[in-house]
Amino acid sequence: MREHAPVYRHPFGFWLLTGYEDVSWLLRAGLSVEDRNVAADNPLREMREVTYGDQMPRFDGRSMLDRDPPDHTRLRRLVSKAFTPRAIEALRPQVAGLVDGMLDAMARARHVDLIESLAFPLPFAVIAKMLGTPSSDHERIRELTGIVVRSLEPVADPDLVSAIVAADGELAGIAAEMIAWKRENPADDLLTALINAEDEGDVLDEDELIAQTLLLYIAGHETTVNLIGGGTLALLRDPGQLALLHDDPGLVANAVEEMLRYDSPVQASRRITLEPVTVGGVEIPAGAFVMASLASANRDERFWGPDAAELRLNRENARQHVSFGAGPHHCLGASLARMEAAIAFERMTARFPRLAPDGEVEWNGRINLRGPARLPVSTG
Ligand code: HEM
Repeated sequence: MREHAPVYRHPFGFWLLTGYEDVSWLLRAGLSVEDRNVAADNPLREMREVTYGDQMPRFDGRSMLDRDPPDHTRLRRLVSKAFTPRAIEALRPQVAGLVDGMLDAMARARHVDLIESLAFPLPFAVIAKMLGTPSSDHERIRELTGIVVRSLEPVADPDLVSAIVAADGELAGIAAEMIAWKRENPADDLLTALINAEDEGDVLDEDELIAQTLLLYIAGHETTVNLIGGGTLALLRDPGQLALLHDDPGLVANAVEEMLRYDSPVQASRRITLEPVTVGGVEIPAGAFVMASLASANRDERFWGPDAAELRLNRENARQHVSFGAGPHHCLGASLARMEAAIAFERMTARFPRLAPDGEVEWNGRINLRGPARLPVSTG
């Protein structure tokens, strides 16, 4: 598609951009992210209305990810007051401790599923710890967020639709309870900071607080799992690159950027045009739903050169990937994800230089938050 139809109108009515320059432009162009702006006669909008009817997931549309200015600006500013670079940096020793504990368990077991042993529990434990949520809720939250993220994709199975609606309601209830509890038991954590976040007298109201808390919870682990899982898989498939990282641990920061580029943990972002725009010489009308394929932009030979499809941990411009998006919605958690992944890969490759595949990879079956669901490895 990059070659023949880089700006493509799908018969279902949405547009798909696959080239690096077009995708970068779209993300930075300040277009809308609010679904209500999709033209009423767009088949995609009808599909969603038919799927959910009046049971649209409750917090769908209330997080900053789904809001345009001025709401986006104010939500992002308030959350940024709590989710600061300092708060993230302060977690470094705890992240290292968590990784070491998980690697110890992997060393003892020798044959493990990397997703269950490290890629999932690490980001989940980190965001849960950061928010300061009671651990009795964690197992249920894990199950529910796994269901709710399916609402980011077209769903046909009516049982799954009901499950998404139910999970969405239950999660919102758990978040409301957590917030009420935290108001009574404030602590030095992100949830307390969100509750108290204030900008010239402006604060997050109850629904906004619930929506931003759930966004951080979900974005905090359902993405980084794919970076650690997909990155490990890429290394296992290319032992020369694994050896390179083992021999030169200083490469780890760039290696993480290259893993992000090579296998995008979030495959696509979407925007909605409020007026006609011209991209790559093609005019897209107002009210169009436009998907930007981050994964494809990250492999565009025209930008990255002829080795775009290869993993090169020392690629000089790896950091120019678009895996964290770009422009006004650029990922707020990018530095947290980078830190978790760098610590995990540095310690894992130092400890298990002979890490090897140990069975079939299973994929999670998701279109957007795509990654391995099971990755059997032997620690050597
Ligand atoms: C936004 C990717 C980890 C919080 C985004 C966007 C992308 C992304 C592509 C922009 C979506 C758009 O333009 O429509 C990733 C990837 C991650 C990751 C690949 C891990 C490898 C995290 C973490 C957190 C987080 C750990 C927080 C704990 C957010 C938030 C937004 C966001 C709050 C919304 C920003 C806004 O709308 O202004 N992320 N993310 N992300 N991410 Fe991440």
